[in-house]
Amino acid sequence: EQHILDQLPLRGKKVLLTAGPTHEAIDPVRFIGNHSSGKMGFEIAKASAALGAEVILISGPTHESVNNSAIKLINVVSAQEMYDAAHRYFNDVDIAILSAAVADYRPKKVASQKLKKDDSSLSLELERTQDILKSLGAIKKHQYLVGFALETMNELANAKSKLASKNLNMIVLNSLNDTGAGFGGSTNKVTFITNSGQELSHALKSKAAVAQDLMQFILKQTHA
Ligand code: CTP
Ligand code: CA
Repeated sequence: EQHILDQLPLRGKKVLLTAGPTHEAIDPVRFIGNHSSGKMGFEIAKASAALGAEVILISGPTHESVNNSAIKLINVVSAQEMYDAAHRYFNDVDIAILSAAVADYRPKKVASQKLKKDDSSLSLELERTQDILKSLGAIKKHQYLVGFALETMNELANAKSKLASKNLNMIVLNSLNDTGAGFGGSTNKVTFITNSGQELSHALKSKAAVAQDLMQFILKQTHA
């Protein structure tokens, strides 16, 4: 019995994930988006399910798909929809890992008709979206909360300041500097940083392997 439980250490646990980009509407046919593929988040979903967890995967628009009864996929489009979905499930989960590339800004007004090219230039006024991760950090109780940080300069310092300001248990620093890592590709180079001061740098690996490293690391951290 103990042996079986060890193979599914997350059995009975719930994991909330965000993945992919968000799309912020400009008009009925246009949006502001980014190049996030969603691969990292979907790999974390599979790795969590393989350890026995019940997974809630909130994803922006991607080409990824899942075929696993332990993974409940919730498709959203905008940062606001992702925020609402994340808050709907957060109270009930044990671990939350937010890997989505959420738009930081959205058009202040969404045109109800397709914009016409009337003028020689066009300015869009943007407003801030809500920070989903920070909002969960502000209300977290028992949850182990994990963020991602994509940095191109002062990587470690910026990641550590996000870890603190968003009240996280851990942050995964994603290095774009190294070839092959980051958006779009199937590999990633990451450093795990915890709020207890641990720092663990990994070699360039497949996103599937990074997801497994991450879940094993979280298991150790939450073992208590
Ligand atoms: N995040 C979020 N909601 C937002 C923006 C970011 O949940 N509106 C989460 C991301 O999913 C990621 C973490 O916050 O886990 C860090 O995202 P990142 O873009 O690196 O940092 P920001 O806090 O947005 O700061 P900046 O883009 O200015 O570096
Ligand atoms: Ca951002």
